[in-house]
Amino acid sequence: MSSMMRLISILLAVLPFLGVGNALAWGRIVNVTQPCVFHGPTGYAWLANITSFSHCSGIIISGLKVPAGVTLSLRNLKNTSVTFQGETSWGYQEWAGPLLSIEGNNVTVKGAPGSVLNGTGELWWDGEGSDGKTKPKFFKLKLTNSTVDDIRIVNSPVHVFSINNCRNLTLANIMIDNSLGDKRGGHNTDGFDISESSDITIVGAKVYNQDDCVAINSGTNIVFRNGTCVGGHGLSIGSVGGRTNNIVSNVLFEDSLIADSENGVRIKTKSGESGTVSNVTYKNIRLENITKIGITVDQSYGATSKAPTSGIPVTNFTLVNITGTVNAKGTNIFVNCGNSSSCESWSWSGVHVTGGKKTKKCLNLPAGISCS
Ligand SMILES: *[C@@H]1O[C@H](CO)[C@@H](O)[C@H](O)[C@H]1NC(C)=O
Ligand SMILES: *[C@@H]1O[C@H](CO)[C@@H](O)[C@H](O)[C@H]1NC(C)=O
Ligand SMILES: *[C@@H]1O[C@H](CO)[C@@H](O)[C@H](O)[C@H]1NC(C)=O
Ligand SMILES: *[C@@H]1O[C@H](CO)[C@@H](O)[C@H](O)[C@H]1NC(C)=O
Ligand SMILES: *[C@@H]1O[C@H](CO)[C@@H](O)[C@H](O)[C@H]1NC(C)=O
Ligand SMILES: *[C@@H]1O[C@H](CO)[C@@H](O)[C@H](O)[C@H]1NC(C)=O
Ligand SMILES: *[C@@H]1O[C@H](CO)[C@@H](O)[C@H](O)[C@H]1NC(C)=O
Ligand SMILES: *[C@@H]1O[C@H](CO)[C@@H](O)[C@H](O)[C@H]1NC(C)=O
Ligand SMILES: *[C@@H]1O[C@H](CO)[C@@H](O)[C@H](O)[C@H]1NC(C)=O
Ligand SMILES: *[C@@H]1O[C@H](CO)[C@@H](O)[C@H](O)[C@H]1NC(C)=O
Ligand SMILES: *[C@@H]1O[C@H](CO)[C@@H](O)[C@H](O)[C@H]1NC(C)=O
Ligand SMILES: *[C@@H]1O[C@H](CO)[C@@H](O)[C@H](O)[C@H]1NC(C)=O
Repeated sequence: MSSMMRLISILLAVLPFLGVGNALAWGRIVNVTQPCVFHGPTGYAWLANITSFSHCSGIIISGLKVPAGVTLSLRNLKNTSVTFQGETSWGYQEWAGPLLSIEGNNVTVKGAPGSVLNGTGELWWDGEGSDGKTKPKFFKLKLTNSTVDDIRIVNSPVHVFSINNCRNLTLANIMIDNSLGDKRGGHNTDGFDISESSDITIVGAKVYNQDDCVAINSGTNIVFRNGTCVGGHGLSIGSVGGRTNNIVSNVLFEDSLIADSENGVRIKTKSGESGTVSNVTYKNIRLENITKIGITVDQSYGATSKAPTSGIPVTNFTLVNITGTVNAKGTNIFVNCGNSSSCESWSWSGVHVTGGKKTKKCLNLPAGISCS
């Protein structure tokens, strides 16, 4: 450490924490921009009072207790960092949330070692997820050119990450632990919901929940790699259709494990709607104890008849090295396509999914694809 660096770090340690401080350095007064720290039960009032964080060299959220019924909202961030330390918690209220929202460009969001965002979802869980009690969604991101690392979330009331209108965002080593919800009525606790976003990379995520591990409703250039999904509904595209944007393209799910989940590999498009799903690849995916369907493409989502429609074609759908087991009561593979051209240019290799039933009900299978 240079002597200048040492001086600056000593100054940072001793100066008052909020805002710009004045410091004596080399015999003259200079302004040193410092991180803004929001701490404990009173920190939220300070934070809510601030309209711009531009005077903060970084934002530290430390042991913050957020009151009930409000969003911990960090907006208009530019070229800065947000660090969570200790336990961040929220008061109880039946409302739609989100509990936490971060918007900006070139932001580094990080969880310090041992930190946790504690949603105390058990207070809301009633087995009804999006129905029943109104439950706050957890974490809304609207970020560009940014990273979110090492965040640990426990017990989200309902959906966890909402990634909407993001560009060039990487989320690394995110842990979502909603496993308590398995026995306590957690439902619709989606891990990562992605829409209208591009260049999104999620690496090293661990998700223990009770709905989709990932659900991509729209977006392009999305990668999910080296992840673990337990207890939920698998790695999903969709449901696609009926929203403002219904185009999904260039998606790669790679090197991941899906265990104790209803589904493994899943593409669901809504009946009667229009849109497209193209160039989706699942590669090196291990399935363990899948209870409903190992691999499924269903173009009838939401239709009680289960009759598939062809308005949202699924093209260039590639599977490489998908192995593992489905529960004896489940089905290994089910494909339900609207017509002979709504599922096209599929390439599957190294697909070995066993243990479940083999169905004869697959409809409009593309050339070269088999359900057994
Ligand atoms: C330091 O900041 C104060 C306001 O906080 C400002 O009035 C002053 O001009 C600044 N000094 C320098 C050297 O930038
Ligand atoms: C919030 O701002 C108001 C008006 O500027 C001020 O009176 C109040 O003390 C501030 N509260 C906090 C916690 O900073
Ligand atoms: C991004 O923000 C960092 C500070 O966190 C800054 O050093 C860097 O120059 C910024 N990058 C761009 C492209 O503005
Ligand atoms: C900070 O962000 C703004 C707007 O995103 C950008 O124009 C500017 O170049 C950045 N400044 C630095 C020092 O990186
Ligand atoms: C979350 O908060 C609840 C209620 O305060 C507490 O019982 C639990 O231990 C906390 N969990 C973590 C991981 O901090
Ligand atoms: C993100 O970075 C790219 C390339 O550095 C830049 O062109 C773009 O304007 C940035 N996005 C925003 C919202 O500033
Ligand atoms: C994406 O964001 C990172 C910062 O997280 C930045 O270094 C990189 O230049 C951005 N890429 C583009 C293409 O804007
Ligand atoms: C994959 O994630 C695990 C933790 O879940 C980590 O230990 C390992 O280094 C990661 N592997 C790669 C290739 O990134
Ligand atoms: C298909 O998607 C992959 C992964 O996202 C991407 O690397 C590739 O360029 C895409 N191919 C085309 C033809 O767009
Ligand atoms: C299989 O997964 C289901 C649903 O998550 C779970 O209840 C069951 O205990 C798992 N079975 C084994 C053998 O792990
Ligand atoms: C197939 O995928 C599994 C992970 O599911 C991986 O361990 C294995 O190395 C992959 N095989 C090949 C040939 O890449
Ligand atoms: C889709 O597959 C066809 C046939 O294999 C190929 O010609 C085309 O480039 C692919 N398109 C994309 C977007 O991957």
